[in-house]
Amino acid sequence: MSIVVIVGTQWGDEGKGKIIDFLSGEVEVVARYQGGNNAGHTVIVDGKKVVLHLIPSGILHANLKCLIGNGVVVDPVGLIEEIKMVEQSGFEVRSRLFVSEIAHMILPYHRRYDRLMESVRSGEMKIGTTGRGIGSAYADKVARHGVRFLDMQTKERFVQKVRNAAFYYDPLFKNWGESAVNVDEIVDEIWPIREEIWPQVCDGVSYLHEQLDSGARVLAEGAQGILLDIDFGTYPYVTSSSPSPGGVCSGLGVAPCQVRDIVGVVKAYTTRVGAGPFPTEQDNEMGEKLRVAGGEFGATTGRPRRCGWFDCPALRRSLQLGAITRLALMKLDVLDDLDEIKVCTHYIYKGKKLSILPFGLEHTNDVECVYESFPGWKTNISKCRTFEELPANAKSYVRALESLCSVHMDLISIGPDRKETIWQNRESFFS
Ligand code: GDP
Ligand code: IMO
Ligand code: MG
Repeated sequence: MSIVVIVGTQWGDEGKGKIIDFLSGEVEVVARYQGGNNAGHTVIVDGKKVVLHLIPSGILHANLKCLIGNGVVVDPVGLIEEIKMVEQSGFEVRSRLFVSEIAHMILPYHRRYDRLMESVRSGEMKIGTTGRGIGSAYADKVARHGVRFLDMQTKERFVQKVRNAAFYYDPLFKNWGESAVNVDEIVDEIWPIREEIWPQVCDGVSYLHEQLDSGARVLAEGAQGILLDIDFGTYPYVTSSSPSPGGVCSGLGVAPCQVRDIVGVVKAYTTRVGAGPFPTEQDNEMGEKLRVAGGEFGATTGRPRRCGWFDCPALRRSLQLGAITRLALMKLDVLDDLDEIKVCTHYIYKGKKLSILPFGLEHTNDVECVYESFPGWKTNISKCRTFEELPANAKSYVRALESLCSVHMDLISIGPDRKETIWQNRESFFS
């Protein structure tokens, strides 16, 4: 039972990359279980910033092994670029990175389809995807015309698989007046990089089980957040995979009984990129203030993130779905300059008090938020290294969140760097 899951509990960008890097010193393996290069996980070590989209966020620890699990959809071109980027940052990658042979690939027609669909959707139907082809790659997997790394065993097989996918896409593209899938062009682009990727490809399930059997401690890295989950998120404004802890088993090939604990990552306020309901959104000066203070611009697309207050009903839904009792509270320092900080304690929905984010919420204004106000601390907290050192008002804010959501903030992050982290409960996650 040595797997600890790290999962986002909001709409993504909670700071998962930082916390996974922080905890990676305690483990032997970090394994991504879902999503693709829609993710942007930022890791900052000694002032040096690395943004990872596919490679697990533990890679900046020299001896650690990283697995891209079968539940991830992998853009092979993006992966090669990322390996080179991390190598240029001074880290050896190739001997430590493993890619599941049954992971599906994102190919150029997936991106084209994703972008076309977004461009033809109008008004409220736009999802605001990252345009990386995530939804179409997962759709192909379910429709059984996906292309997996295993399909690169021979060129013949790869060509056959791409051609098979083209049968599906060509009529759709034609309908939009677009050109058909150019199978030759895709093969000419992707096949040559097989040589570079193939050494990393393996039976990821056996690899992980062997590691577990030999006593390795494993962090399962979630991308996105529970509120973007295909089943439990604010559908259809979601991603196409299962960031929820349930996704760990199907995304890595492990059993539920092998998961030891689930640690949620939550920001001290809330953000969202793309469309969809966001009840506590502050589409005003306060939202702008949070955006600037928190540097809330997408790590993948650069889009400004929508910002708002901490939302207890939304968090309670994620805690419920992940049976989460331990959280890492991120970016508390972003609130340093505020006079007053608000927290949504519950909603009023159709005249009734509601303590949990309901399913089927179409619009933000379907619910009315009820807020409790807290005084700010007006102090730079980034140098604090223990909970006791935090200003009284910051401590009260943390305690209030814990009490409102019946959860314990084991870790408190007060800056982007590894060292800007406070343990509230130092008991090892793996002891
Ligand atoms: P992820 O997708 O969940 O890994 O999060 P992102 O990397 O997309 O966004 C989080 C951003 O906040 C990154 O720029 C991090 O460097 C930064 N960050 C993480 N933790 C903290 C923190 O405690 N304080 C501040 N100010 N920034 C943080
Ligand atoms: P990390 O791992 C925040 C959002 C997109 C869009 C929706 C669907 O960095 O937290 P997709 O391209 O997945 O089909 O887009 O999901 N989204 C994210 N938002 N952080 C992410 O990843 C996201 N990945 C996808 O903005 O609203
Ligand atoms: Mg991100």
